[in-house]
Amino acid sequence: ISLRPYNTFGIESKARYFSSFSGLADLEQLLSLETYDNMPTLVLGGGSNILFTKEVNALVIKNDIKGISLEAEDDEYYYVKAFAGENWHGFVQYCIQHGFAGVENLSLIPGNVGASPMQNIGAYGVEIKDVFYSLEGYHIKDKTLVAFNAADCRFGYRESVFKQHLKNQFVIVSVTFRLRKEPRYNTSYGAIEQELEKMGVQQLSISAISQAVINIRSSKLPNPAVIGNAGSFFKNPTIPNTVFLPLKERFPAIVGYPVGLEETKLAAGWLIEQCGWKGYREGDAGCHAQQALVLVNYGTAKGSDIYTLSTKIIESVYNKFGVTLEREVNIV
Ligand code: FAD
Ligand code: EPU
Repeated sequence: ISLRPYNTFGIESKARYFSSFSGLADLEQLLSLETYDNMPTLVLGGGSNILFTKEVNALVIKNDIKGISLEAEDDEYYYVKAFAGENWHGFVQYCIQHGFAGVENLSLIPGNVGASPMQNIGAYGVEIKDVFYSLEGYHIKDKTLVAFNAADCRFGYRESVFKQHLKNQFVIVSVTFRLRKEPRYNTSYGAIEQELEKMGVQQLSISAISQAVINIRSSKLPNPAVIGNAGSFFKNPTIPNTVFLPLKERFPAIVGYPVGLEETKLAAGWLIEQCGWKGYREGDAGCHAQQALVLVNYGTAKGSDIYTLSTKIIESVYNKFGVTLEREVNIV
């Protein structure tokens, strides 16, 4: 089966076997089939953070389990459970409609709820670890359902245990979020303040913040329905201040944000732009003209074309700045 409709990069690739499931019983039944014994498994959500560089010799399973429910509440919080196949932005909208606060800054991130803990999705000053309560994961080999709390997930910047040593071992089935009854507005990201002002917002609300984030994102990130992409292709690198300060002397305009007292997180988009890649195109593989951190497929690029371009970018950033970029997108 062609995987092209299942990845926002719009890359052509094939899966040896493909199936979707819409309930835990379906999943259990699927994984118990003899055909799939000892076959590697790849779980797919919305396909918005994945690059296929070759044919996939595995069982690809698309998680379509749906449902959102309020599980419990206390004085401060609502505990809201969402199943993995729910669209992420749809879940955010549901929370805003019901007055569940905490995910409004994460509006319009593509993909599904089930992948959100994978890389601890983040944007505009918030990461899901800030609102995460627990998740249920189905262990593919042991065929058991396991509960994970926040500590078990080992969240980091664009990282979790599921991207590291538990990679491809669990199907995330549901995620429970702990959302505030009284909002704590996060407008720490400068662009949000500016956008709220432009919108003429007098009274802050979770829906106003959501709309501001939607406006900002729509103005600079390419819409995958128009140009294939998977969002930021690289992570923003964190370096020790002992390395940052001499760099800042050589490149006074370098963009960096303090992380704790001893480290700085660099804007990789700035580094890539300075190396001349912004707007670059080679065949159908390119570097987005409004956001250099996003690699794009203009139509018929192969996954290997995008990957090769990413390698060239890593090399040139290293040669100019001595900083090694790490890919953020999951490479298959
Ligand atoms: P997929 O691409 O389907 O899968 C991603 C990875 O998770 C794969 O390794 C897959 O095997 C695994 N996986 C998926 N579902 C499950 C499951 N149920 N159980 C176990 N493993 C699973 N990300 C951000 O953090 N912040 C942003 O601001 C942001 N902006 C973006 C903007 C654009 C235009 C695009 C295209 C992407 C952006 N992303 C951003 C990246 C992407 O939206 C997120 O990583 C999202 O969580 C991916 O969800 P998905 O369902 O599409 O995952
Ligand atoms: N910049 C440039 N040139 C560029 C792009 C960026 O100079 O081409 C500089 C600008 O100075 C800008 C700064 O980089 O002020 C930061 O840019 P932006 O606000 O667009 O954010 P980012 O660091 O490029 C990160 C995330 C995004 C997330 C935004 C908002 C990573 C890898 N990316 O991008 O996440 O939406 O912040 O919080 O951390 C994603 O993960 O797919 C993603 C889109």
